Amino acid sequence: MKILGVGAYAPERKLTNADLEQMVETSDEWIVSRTGIHTRHIVAPGQSDVDLAEAAARQAVRASGLAGDQIDVIICATFTVPRFVPSAAADIQQRLGIHEDIIAFDLNAACSGFVFALITAERLLRPGQRALVIGSEALSTVTDYQDRSTCVLFGDGAGAVVIEQDGAPFWSKTLVRGGDDALKSDPYIRMQGGEVFKFATRALNQTARDVIAQAGWQPQEVDCFICHQANLRILQNAAKQLEVGMDRFFVNVDEYGNTSAASVPLALAEAYQAGRLHNGDKVVLAGFGGGLTAGAAAFVWQGR
Ligand code: UT7
Repeated sequence: MKILGVGAYAPERKLTNADLEQMVETSDEWIVSRTGIHTRHIVAPGQSDVDLAEAAARQAVRASGLAGDQIDVIICATFTVPRFVPSAAADIQQRLGIHEDIIAFDLNAACSGFVFALITAERLLRPGQRALVIGSEALSTVTDYQDRSTCVLFGDGAGAVVIEQDGAPFWSKTLVRGGDDALKSDPYIRMQGGEVFKFATRALNQTARDVIAQAGWQPQEVDCFICHQANLRILQNAAKQLEVGMDRFFVNVDEYGNTSAASVPLALAEAYQAGRLHNGDKVVLAGFGGGLTAGAAAFVWQGR
C-alpha cells in the first residue's frame, strides 16, 4: 500500500481546560494528570462532521495529485454524522466531484473506525486502484457538557489519506468484543472509563504486538507508532509494555483530546507534515475503544 496524500482538519474554535473549569467541577490539574489533554477543537454552530471530513479529504486528494476519476473507493469512518442517509462518504463524493463509478460508504467502529476502514480499503482494492479513507468526528454534538467524566475528554476533527494498492505487504489484526445495551436511547456518549482504560491498554499491546510479529519485526524496530489518542497514559503504558521509547509514539492528544475515528488519521497527517514519516519507515497504526473494538496495521511507509 502506497500513501499518495494525507490531510487533516480541526475546527478553529478551541475548548480549553480553563473553559471546562467554568462549566463543570474539574481542574486543569486533574485533566492534565489523568489524560494529558490541554485543549480540544469544537465545531462552530452549523458546522457538521461531514464538513470536517470534506476539508481533510480535499487536502488529501490535492496532495495525492489525483483527479476525481482516479479514485475507486471512499470510506468514511465516523459515528457522528448529522444524518444517516446519504452517507458522509456519498456526500464527500458529491462535494469533491469524484466520479460516480465508485464504492462509497461509512463505517462505524468507534475509535477503531479509521484503522478498520484502512484495513477494509486495503482488502477491497485491486492492484493499481486507489481509495480515499477518512476518519471524522464531531463528538461535541454527542457530548453531555454536564458530565465531567466525559466532557473533558472529547474533541472534533478529521483526517484523511489517499492510498494506492501496490501489492506491498500490509499486516493487520482486529478485535471485537460485543456491545453494551446500557447505551440504549441515550443521546450522549457514556463511558465506563476505568473498564475501557483496562481494555485499551491490553488491546493496544496485543494488537500492536500481533502485527509487529506478523511483519517479522521487533517492537524496537518500529520507527513510528500512530495510535488512537484517547489518553496520554494509555500511550505511555503501551510504550512501556512494548519496551520502546515514547519518542517512537506520535502524540497530539494534548491539542485535540479524544477525537475517536478521527484521531489516527489526524495524527498520521500531522506526523507526516512534521517530517516524522519517510519512505522505508516501519509504521504501526492502532485504534481501540468503544464497542469494544481494537485494530492495528503495520506497513512500510511508501509515499508518492
Ligand atoms: O476513545 C475510546 C477509548 N477511551 C479510552 O481509552 C478512555 C479510557 N479511560 C480513561 O482514559 C480514564 O479512565 C479517564 C481519564 C476517563 C478517567 O481517569 P481515571 O483515572 O480512570 O479516573 P476515575 O474514572 O477512576 O475517576 C477518579 C475520580 C473519581 O472520583 P472519586 O470517585 O474517586 O471520588 C471521579 O468522580 O475522579 C473523578 N473525576 C473527576 N474529577 C475531576 C472524574 N472526572 C473528573 C473530572 N474532574 N473531569
